[in-house]
Amino acid sequence: MKARMSAKKIKIVEGRTRFWVYQGEITRKLPVFFNPDKEFDRTLSVIFLKALKKLLGRDLIVLDLLSGSGARGIRLLNESNAVEKLFLNDFNPRAVSFIKKNLELNELNAEVSNLEANEFLINTRQYFDFIDVDPFGSCNPFLENSIKRLKNKGVLAITITDCGALYGTYPKAGFRKYHSIVRRTPFSHELGLRVLAKHVIERGSEQEIALEPIFSHQTRHYFRMYFQARRGASRTDKLLEKIKFLAFNQKTLETRLIEKEFNIKKEEILLGPLFAGNLQNKEVLKLMLEYQDEKKIEKFLKTLYDEAEINAVSFYELPFIAKKLHKNVPKIDFLIKKLKKKGYKASRTHISGQGIKTNASIKELIKLF
Ligand SMILES: C[S@@+](CC[C@H](N)C(=O)[O-])C[C@H]1O[C@@H](n2cnc3c(N)ncnc32)[C@H](O)[C@@H]1O
Repeated sequence: MKARMSAKKIKIVEGRTRFWVYQGEITRKLPVFFNPDKEFDRTLSVIFLKALKKLLGRDLIVLDLLSGSGARGIRLLNESNAVEKLFLNDFNPRAVSFIKKNLELNELNAEVSNLEANEFLINTRQYFDFIDVDPFGSCNPFLENSIKRLKNKGVLAITITDCGALYGTYPKAGFRKYHSIVRRTPFSHELGLRVLAKHVIERGSEQEIALEPIFSHQTRHYFRMYFQARRGASRTDKLLEKIKFLAFNQKTLETRLIEKEFNIKKEEILLGPLFAGNLQNKEVLKLMLEYQDEKKIEKFLKTLYDEAEINAVSFYELPFIAKKLHKNVPKIDFLIKKLKKKGYKASRTHISGQGIKTNASIKELIKLF
């Protein structure tokens, strides 16, 4: 109620697009939800759409299912030069009037609807190249019907903000919502991405649609993943083969992927199931690097690219290891250089400024401390 009373309408510019939004405490109680902190994420989705247009070789039919003020969808239409037709939907009538105003402000046209999201998805006859699902909390209520409306090779992009369930802060919620064992570990945030990937892949597999992660990141308080859909039972089976469990040895800090949950040793904890395949598609990242024009985004995408070169499902958090060894934290760039000199692959992770991804074992890494 407080947020509603203190919120005021302001006009802003994000990217090359202008909007009317509500400014106030960022909670779902805002009359029309808008989070200015998600600018980085919305900009990334504009660049992603340019890459998708190039990959598919056509202009795209796009759905912003839970549009709020229309910020994301309208930016995609205005800035990507990739959209043939845009659909915007929200069940909040005030959001819909903002969407209409914001389209007018930018002299753009789109199909706008004021429906409950599943009602929209069930009743539309349209198939989409890109569906964006940006809910409050979990995307679970919208997954099944969104997946049904994807064209072959179309992309489902989801944002998740119920991080406690995926970080392992609330293991019961993690199991209830994502059917995996999640615990607090030094690499919890990557674990969360991989559990989420597993969950969405399984929802796709129910419809014999392989939903392959092609661009993924965990930033601040949210997870963001883009999945490309391909129909077919054997493709789906292949993707499911990459779902594994992870055993984490809390004493030695070793991790190992295992096929079956009853395989663990006494000092290990069991995590997962999780998706152990690649979270990025390097082709997509290369294209995005071509299309971006901001230093901060270039740096971010390069880190994702470096990570994708390394076949590891978790990372080593240096302060955690240093604390265990009663040593100072070594300089991360020094360690990466040393590992590479020894013939290992190593890179930073976008998830933590003090995290290293490498194919070297923990024993090798500890030698360098
Ligand atoms: C997190 S906000 C979307 C923010 C927007 N994507 C942006 O970038 O500013 C979620 C929106 O979903 C809408 N919403 C929530 N549940 C819905 C449902 N079941 N059907 C339709 N809209 C819904 C809310 O009204 C809200 O505007």
